[in-house]
Amino acid sequence: MSRLAVVGAGSMGAQIAQQAALHGIEVALQDKDEAQLDKARDSNQGHLARRVEKGRLSGEDADAALGRVRLTTDLHEAVLDAELVIEAVFEDLETKRLIFGELGALAPAGAVLASNSSTIGISKLADVSRRPDRCLNMHFFYPVLVMDLVEIVRGPQTSDESVRRAMAMARAMGRTAVLLNKEIDGFIVNRILHAATQEAYRLLDAGVASFEDIDIAVEKGLNWPMGPFRLGDFSGLDVTYNARLHMYRSTGDERYRPSQQLEAKVNAGKLGRKTGEGWYRYEK
Ligand SMILES: NC(=O)c1ccc[n+]([C@@H]2O[C@H](COP(=O)([O-])OP(=O)(O)OC[C@H]3O[C@@H](n4cnc5c(N)ncnc54)[C@H](O)[C@@H]3O)[C@@H](O)[C@H]2O)c1
Repeated sequence: MSRLAVVGAGSMGAQIAQQAALHGIEVALQDKDEAQLDKARDSNQGHLARRVEKGRLSGEDADAALGRVRLTTDLHEAVLDAELVIEAVFEDLETKRLIFGELGALAPAGAVLASNSSTIGISKLADVSRRPDRCLNMHFFYPVLVMDLVEIVRGPQTSDESVRRAMAMARAMGRTAVLLNKEIDGFIVNRILHAATQEAYRLLDAGVASFEDIDIAVEKGLNWPMGPFRLGDFSGLDVTYNARLHMYRSTGDERYRPSQQLEAKVNAGKLGRKTGEGWYRYEK
Protein backbone atom coordinates (compact mmCIF):
# COMPACT_ATOMS: atom_id res chain seq x y z
CA MET A 1 0.00 0.00 0.00
CA SER A 2 2.02 2.95 -1.20
CA ARG A 3 -0.33 5.20 -3.18
CA LEU A 4 -2.98 7.10 -1.28
CA ALA A 5 -5.44 9.80 -2.25
CA VAL A 6 -7.19 12.00 0.33
CA VAL A 7 -10.29 13.96 -0.66
CA GLY A 8 -10.93 17.09 1.42
CA ALA A 9 -8.01 19.13 2.80
CA GLY A 10 -9.61 20.42 6.01
CA SER A 11 -8.44 19.77 9.58
CA MET A 12 -8.54 16.00 9.11
CA GLY A 13 -7.64 15.48 5.45
CA ALA A 14 -4.55 17.72 5.59
CA GLN A 15 -3.07 15.78 8.51
CA ILE A 16 -4.10 12.33 7.23
CA ALA A 17 -2.15 13.10 4.06
CA GLN A 18 0.86 14.43 5.99
CA GLN A 19 0.93 11.50 8.41
CA ALA A 20 1.07 9.07 5.48
CA ALA A 21 3.76 11.12 3.71
CA LEU A 22 5.89 11.10 6.87
CA HIS A 23 5.94 7.32 6.48
CA GLY A 24 7.10 7.34 2.87
CA ILE A 25 3.69 7.09 1.18
CA GLU A 26 3.00 9.16 -1.94
CA VAL A 27 -0.23 11.08 -1.38
CA ALA A 28 -2.50 13.14 -3.59
CA LEU A 29 -4.47 15.63 -1.45
CA GLN A 30 -7.52 16.98 -3.27
CA ASP A 31 -9.91 19.77 -2.31
CA LYS A 32 -12.39 21.67 -4.45
CA ASP A 33 -11.17 24.87 -2.83
CA GLU A 34 -7.65 26.02 -3.77
CA ALA A 35 -7.40 28.18 -0.63
CA GLN A 36 -7.95 25.09 1.56
CA LEU A 37 -5.03 23.38 -0.16
CA ASP A 38 -2.78 26.37 0.54
CA LYS A 39 -3.93 26.39 4.15
CA ALA A 40 -3.27 22.64 4.46
CA ARG A 41 0.26 23.02 3.07
CA ASP A 42 1.06 25.98 5.37
CA SER A 43 -0.31 24.22 8.40
CA ASN A 44 1.61 21.00 7.70
CA GLN A 45 4.79 23.02 7.06
CA GLY A 46 4.32 24.62 10.49
CA HIS A 47 3.80 21.25 12.24
CA LEU A 48 6.89 19.71 10.66
CA ALA A 49 9.01 22.84 11.28
CA ARG A 50 8.21 22.54 15.00
CA ARG A 51 9.35 18.91 14.96
CA VAL A 52 12.58 19.97 13.29
CA GLU A 53 13.12 22.74 15.90
CA LYS A 54 12.64 20.19 18.69
CA GLY A 55 15.15 17.84 17.05
CA ARG A 56 12.52 15.14 16.46
CA LEU A 57 12.76 15.25 12.65
CA SER A 58 15.60 16.20 10.33
CA GLY A 59 15.13 19.12 7.94
CA GLU A 60 15.73 16.74 5.03
CA ASP A 61 13.06 14.29 6.17
CA ALA A 62 10.60 17.15 6.73
CA ASP A 63 11.18 18.48 3.21
CA ALA A 64 10.84 14.97 1.74
CA ALA A 65 7.58 14.37 3.62
CA LEU A 66 6.15 17.71 2.48
CA GLY A 67 7.23 16.89 -1.07
CA ARG A 68 5.33 13.59 -1.03
CA VAL A 69 1.98 15.42 -0.68
CA ARG A 70 0.75 16.44 -4.12
CA LEU A 71 -1.94 19.12 -3.93
CA THR A 72 -4.68 19.27 -6.53
CA THR A 73 -8.23 20.47 -7.14
CA ASP A 74 -8.73 17.81 -9.81
CA LEU A 75 -10.41 14.71 -8.36
CA HIS A 76 -9.72 12.59 -11.41
CA GLU A 77 -6.01 13.36 -11.35
CA ALA A 78 -5.90 12.75 -7.58
CA VAL A 79 -7.33 9.24 -7.63
CA LEU A 80 -6.05 8.05 -11.01
CA ASP A 81 -3.49 5.58 -9.61
CA ALA A 82 -4.62 5.33 -5.96
CA GLU A 83 -4.70 2.00 -4.13
CA LEU A 84 -6.78 3.53 -1.37
CA VAL A 85 -8.82 6.74 -1.22
CA ILE A 86 -9.79 8.38 2.08
CA GLU A 87 -12.69 10.82 1.88
CA ALA A 88 -12.54 13.58 4.53
CA VAL A 89 -14.96 16.27 3.35
CA PHE A 90 -17.65 18.05 5.40
CA GLU A 91 -19.95 15.90 7.49
CA ASP A 92 -22.78 16.08 4.96
CA LEU A 93 -24.43 12.94 3.62
CA GLU A 94 -25.33 14.32 0.18
CA THR A 95 -21.83 15.74 -0.40
CA LYS A 96 -20.27 12.43 0.61
CA ARG A 97 -22.67 10.44 -1.60
CA LEU A 98 -21.77 12.62 -4.58
CA ILE A 99 -18.08 12.01 -3.93
CA PHE A 100 -18.50 8.25 -3.50
CA GLY A 101 -20.37 8.19 -6.82
CA GLU A 102 -17.49 10.05 -8.49
CA LEU A 103 -14.87 7.87 -6.80
CA GLY A 104 -16.65 4.74 -8.04
CA ALA A 105 -16.28 6.05 -11.57
CA LEU A 106 -12.80 7.59 -11.35
CA ALA A 107 -10.65 5.46 -9.01
CA PRO A 108 -8.98 2.26 -10.28
CA ALA A 109 -11.39 -0.70 -10.11
CA GLY A 110 -9.35 -2.37 -7.36
CA ALA A 111 -8.99 0.69 -5.13
CA VAL A 112 -10.49 0.65 -1.64
CA LEU A 113 -12.71 3.66 -0.83
CA ALA A 114 -12.77 4.79 2.82
CA SER A 115 -14.71 7.50 4.60
CA ASN A 116 -13.27 9.28 7.62
CA SER A 117 -16.76 10.24 8.77
CA SER A 118 -17.44 10.13 12.52
CA THR A 119 -21.19 9.63 12.17
CA ILE A 120 -21.99 8.41 8.65
CA GLY A 121 -21.56 4.66 8.40
CA ILE A 122 -20.28 3.29 5.10
CA SER A 123 -23.59 1.53 4.40
CA LYS A 124 -25.04 4.99 3.65
CA LEU A 125 -22.37 5.69 0.99
CA ALA A 126 -21.20 2.38 -0.46
CA ASP A 127 -24.15 1.74 -2.83
CA VAL A 128 -23.43 4.79 -5.04
CA SER A 129 -19.81 3.68 -5.57
CA ARG A 130 -20.97 0.48 -7.36
CA ARG A 131 -18.23 -1.39 -5.43
CA PRO A 132 -19.69 -1.78 -1.92
CA ASP A 133 -17.33 -4.68 -1.18
CA ARG A 134 -14.43 -2.21 -1.42
CA CYS A 135 -15.89 0.46 0.88
CA LEU A 136 -15.41 0.95 4.62
CA ASN A 137 -14.97 3.61 7.31
CA MET A 138 -11.45 4.57 8.35
CA HIS A 139 -11.95 6.84 11.33
CA PHE A 140 -8.91 8.89 12.37
CA PHE A 141 -8.74 11.13 15.45
CA TYR A 142 -7.90 14.82 15.67
CA PRO A 143 -5.07 15.83 15.59
CA VAL A 144 -4.09 13.01 13.25
CA LEU A 145 -0.37 13.83 13.51
CA VAL A 146 -0.58 13.06 17.24
CA MET A 147 -3.40 10.59 17.83
CA ASP A 148 -2.30 7.00 17.28
CA LEU A 149 -5.59 5.29 16.48
CA VAL A 150 -7.71 4.44 13.47
CA GLU A 151 -11.05 2.67 13.80
CA ILE A 152 -11.72 0.53 10.73
CA VAL A 153 -15.38 -0.26 10.41
CA ARG A 154 -16.77 -2.75 7.97
CA GLY A 155 -20.16 -2.28 6.39
CA PRO A 156 -22.53 -5.17 5.61
CA GLN A 157 -20.85 -5.80 2.25
CA THR A 158 -17.18 -4.98 2.95
CA SER A 159 -14.84 -7.79 1.86
CA ASP A 160 -12.11 -9.29 4.04
CA GLU A 161 -9.57 -8.20 1.44
CA SER A 162 -10.64 -4.53 1.72
CA VAL A 163 -10.39 -4.71 5.52
CA ARG A 164 -6.93 -6.25 5.22
CA ARG A 165 -5.79 -3.48 2.88
CA ALA A 166 -7.16 -0.69 5.06
CA MET A 167 -5.46 -2.21 8.12
CA ALA A 168 -2.22 -2.45 6.13
CA MET A 169 -2.47 1.22 5.09
CA ALA A 170 -3.11 2.34 8.68
CA ARG A 171 -0.05 0.41 9.85
CA ALA A 172 2.06 1.72 6.95
CA MET A 173 1.09 5.23 8.09
CA GLY A 174 2.43 4.48 11.57
CA ARG A 175 -1.01 4.23 13.16
CA THR A 176 -2.62 1.54 15.31
CA ALA A 177 -5.80 0.15 13.78
CA VAL A 178 -8.72 -1.57 15.47
CA LEU A 179 -11.48 -3.37 13.58
CA LEU A 180 -15.22 -3.08 14.16
CA ASN A 181 -17.08 -5.99 12.60
CA LYS A 182 -20.38 -4.14 12.86
CA GLU A 183 -21.38 -0.62 11.91
CA ILE A 184 -22.63 1.14 15.05
CA ASP A 185 -23.21 4.80 15.93
CA GLY A 186 -20.15 6.37 17.56
CA PHE A 187 -17.91 3.39 16.69
CA ILE A 188 -15.93 2.34 19.81
CA VAL A 189 -14.22 5.46 21.12
CA ASN A 190 -17.02 7.99 20.76
CA ARG A 191 -19.52 5.43 22.00
CA ILE A 192 -17.61 5.02 25.27
CA LEU A 193 -16.73 8.72 25.49
CA HIS A 194 -20.36 9.74 24.93
CA ALA A 195 -21.62 7.32 27.58
CA ALA A 196 -19.14 8.66 30.15
CA THR A 197 -19.74 12.30 29.19
CA GLN A 198 -23.49 11.87 29.28
CA GLU A 199 -23.18 10.51 32.81
CA ALA A 200 -21.06 13.54 33.78
CA TYR A 201 -23.80 15.88 32.46
CA ARG A 202 -26.44 13.90 34.37
CA LEU A 203 -24.48 14.41 37.59
CA LEU A 204 -24.18 18.13 36.82
CA ASP A 205 -27.88 18.56 35.93
CA ALA A 206 -28.86 16.69 39.12
CA GLY A 207 -26.74 19.08 41.21
CA VAL A 208 -24.52 16.26 42.50
CA ALA A 209 -21.27 18.20 41.94
CA SER A 210 -19.90 21.24 40.13
CA PHE A 211 -18.46 20.74 36.64
CA GLU A 212 -15.03 21.65 38.04
CA ASP A 213 -15.23 18.89 40.65
CA ILE A 214 -16.51 16.33 38.13
CA ASP A 215 -13.51 17.16 35.91
CA ILE A 216 -11.11 16.86 38.86
CA ALA A 217 -12.66 13.53 39.90
CA VAL A 218 -12.33 12.08 36.38
CA GLU A 219 -8.80 13.43 35.89
CA LYS A 220 -7.46 12.24 39.25
CA GLY A 221 -9.60 9.14 39.72
CA LEU A 222 -9.69 7.71 36.21
CA ASN A 223 -6.42 9.23 35.05
CA TRP A 224 -8.00 10.85 31.98
CA PRO A 225 -5.80 13.69 30.69
CA MET A 226 -8.90 15.94 30.59
CA GLY A 227 -12.25 15.69 32.37
CA PRO A 228 -15.41 15.73 30.21
CA PHE A 229 -16.09 19.47 30.57
CA ARG A 230 -12.50 20.52 29.84
CA LEU A 231 -12.51 18.13 26.87
CA GLY A 232 -15.82 19.56 25.66
CA ASP A 233 -14.33 23.06 25.69
CA PHE A 234 -11.33 21.76 23.77
CA SER A 235 -13.35 20.01 21.04
CA GLY A 236 -16.09 22.67 20.84
CA LEU A 237 -19.36 22.41 22.80
CA ASP A 238 -21.33 22.65 19.53
CA VAL A 239 -19.55 19.46 18.40
CA THR A 240 -20.45 17.69 21.68
CA TYR A 241 -24.03 18.98 21.52
CA ASN A 242 -24.57 18.00 17.87
CA ALA A 243 -23.15 14.53 18.50
CA ARG A 244 -25.66 14.06 21.36
CA LEU A 245 -28.50 15.39 19.25
CA HIS A 246 -27.59 13.06 16.40
CA MET A 247 -27.55 10.03 18.71
CA TYR A 248 -30.81 11.12 20.38
CA ARG A 249 -32.62 11.68 17.09
CA SER A 250 -31.32 8.54 15.42
CA THR A 251 -32.10 6.23 18.38
CA GLY A 252 -34.98 8.10 20.11
CA ASP A 253 -33.30 6.87 23.30
CA GLU A 254 -33.72 9.26 26.28
CA ARG A 255 -30.23 8.30 27.48
CA TYR A 256 -28.80 10.40 24.65
CA ARG A 257 -30.93 13.54 25.13
CA PRO A 258 -28.52 16.53 25.31
CA SER A 259 -28.17 18.12 28.75
CA GLN A 260 -30.11 21.37 29.27
CA GLN A 261 -27.00 23.08 30.61
CA LEU A 262 -25.05 22.05 27.52
CA GLU A 263 -27.83 23.33 25.26
CA ALA A 264 -27.83 26.67 27.14
CA LYS A 265 -24.07 27.07 26.57
CA VAL A 266 -24.46 26.41 22.84
CA ASN A 267 -27.43 28.80 22.52
CA ALA A 268 -25.38 31.49 24.29
CA GLY A 269 -22.51 30.98 21.79
CA LYS A 270 -20.19 29.81 24.61
CA LEU A 271 -18.60 27.03 22.60
CA GLY A 272 -15.33 26.55 24.48
CA ARG A 273 -11.77 27.56 23.65
CA LYS A 274 -12.61 28.73 20.16
CA THR A 275 -15.00 31.42 21.47
CA GLY A 276 -12.95 32.26 24.59
CA GLU A 277 -15.53 30.77 26.95
CA GLY A 278 -17.34 27.49 27.46
CA TRP A 279 -17.39 25.80 30.84
CA TYR A 280 -14.15 27.62 31.59
CA ARG A 281 -12.87 31.04 30.48
CA TYR A 282 -9.81 31.33 28.23
CA GLU A 283 -7.35 34.16 27.76
CA LYS A 284 -6.86 35.20 24.14
N1 LIG B 1 -12.56 17.38 13.08
C1 LIG B 1 -12.53 16.28 13.82
O1 LIG B 1 -12.20 16.29 15.02
C2 LIG B 1 -12.86 14.94 13.18
C3 LIG B 1 -12.43 13.74 13.80
C4 LIG B 1 -12.68 12.52 13.17
C5 LIG B 1 -13.38 12.49 11.97
N2 LIG B 1 -13.82 13.67 11.40
C6 LIG B 1 -14.53 13.58 10.11
O2 LIG B 1 -13.66 14.05 9.10
C7 LIG B 1 -14.42 14.66 8.05
C8 LIG B 1 -13.83 16.03 7.75
O3 LIG B 1 -13.86 16.80 8.93
P1 LIG B 1 -12.95 18.12 9.07
O4 LIG B 1 -13.07 18.54 10.49
O5 LIG B 1 -11.61 17.88 8.47
O6 LIG B 1 -13.76 19.14 8.13
P2 LIG B 1 -13.29 20.56 7.59
O7 LIG B 1 -14.52 21.39 7.53
O8 LIG B 1 -12.10 21.06 8.33
O9 LIG B 1 -12.81 20.24 6.09
C9 LIG B 1 -13.65 19.77 5.08
C10 LIG B 1 -12.96 20.01 3.76
O10 LIG B 1 -13.71 19.37 2.73
C11 LIG B 1 -13.63 20.18 1.57
N3 LIG B 1 -14.71 19.81 0.65
C12 LIG B 1 -16.04 20.01 0.79
N4 LIG B 1 -16.71 19.53 -0.28
C13 LIG B 1 -15.78 18.99 -1.11
C14 LIG B 1 -15.83 18.35 -2.36
N5 LIG B 1 -16.99 18.15 -2.99
N6 LIG B 1 -14.68 17.93 -2.93
C15 LIG B 1 -13.48 18.14 -2.30
N7 LIG B 1 -13.36 18.75 -1.11
C16 LIG B 1 -14.49 19.18 -0.52
C17 LIG B 1 -13.72 21.59 2.11
O11 LIG B 1 -13.26 22.55 1.15
C18 LIG B 1 -12.85 21.49 3.36
O12 LIG B 1 -11.50 21.80 3.06
C19 LIG B 1 -15.86 14.66 8.52
O13 LIG B 1 -16.52 13.57 7.92
C20 LIG B 1 -15.77 14.43 10.03
O14 LIG B 1 -16.86 13.69 10.57
C21 LIG B 1 -13.56 14.88 11.97
